[in-house]
Amino acid sequence: GKPFRIQHVAQYFEAGRPLTMLTAYDAMTARIIDEAGIDMILVGDSYGTTMLGMESTIGVDLDDMVRATAAVARGAKRALIVADLPLGTYESSPAQAVDSAVALVRAGAAAVKLEGGRRIFPQVKAIVDAGINVMGHLGFTPQSENQLGGKRLQGRGDAAAALLADAEALQEAGVFSVVFEMVPASTTAAATKRLEIPIIGIGAGPDAAGQVLVWADMAGMQDWKPSFAHQFGAVGAELARAAAAYRDAVVSRSFPAPENYHQD
Ligand code: KIV
Ligand code: NA
Repeated sequence: GKPFRIQHVAQYFEAGRPLTMLTAYDAMTARIIDEAGIDMILVGDSYGTTMLGMESTIGVDLDDMVRATAAVARGAKRALIVADLPLGTYESSPAQAVDSAVALVRAGAAAVKLEGGRRIFPQVKAIVDAGINVMGHLGFTPQSENQLGGKRLQGRGDAAAALLADAEALQEAGVFSVVFEMVPASTTAAATKRLEIPIIGIGAGPDAAGQVLVWADMAGMQDWKPSFAHQFGAVGAELARAAAAYRDAVVSRSFPAPENYHQD
């Protein structure tokens, strides 16, 4: 099919068609997710916590993201690829942000995502002015987890107004969409009324224009999942079953069978 491009995000949003987004970090997974018809693939810096076994996203650098983005771009044919700017690649200046965004676009991203609101207005505007699509990310922002005091719901009660002001600033700076992570449903509903761009929610309730999940959480790769995720499959259990069946077949010498090798 036709590639899903930036104008299709707006078209779906205006038609009231929910937008679908999953993460991916490699070509093989990206191909499977793309063929399932997911609209947008996020090469998230959750790459660090999922695939690299890190405690947080703080250790992910631009080289990690460039390599993962290039792999996803090779695997996906239709989905719009959004790549995360990792910690330390955009905070210092708009010029730093543009240089980092260019590296991800060169690797195959159609858009970049960065965390924060009013405080990164100049960076977002500079990237947009450089001709690169930007997605915002508000609410719980893992790169500033230490400042936020842990993995906690954001934008509740009195903090809702500040979150809305951040969302309006990002819209003003030119983002085409914004992720709301771990935000009360009521705050997402209020923001949906105020904004002209689609909100993509993760733990942000049913009113967001679209939803995003980390693919490993969605597919059930671990016995653990975040409260806001749902396991739509048990891929981890299936992989474990396959590995154990392979082990048993090798130990019992039923693998390789004649069809699995050449005599000469
Ligand atoms: O890195 C990531 O996976 C993300 C999503 C959770 C939005 O930023
Ligand atoms: Na991220």
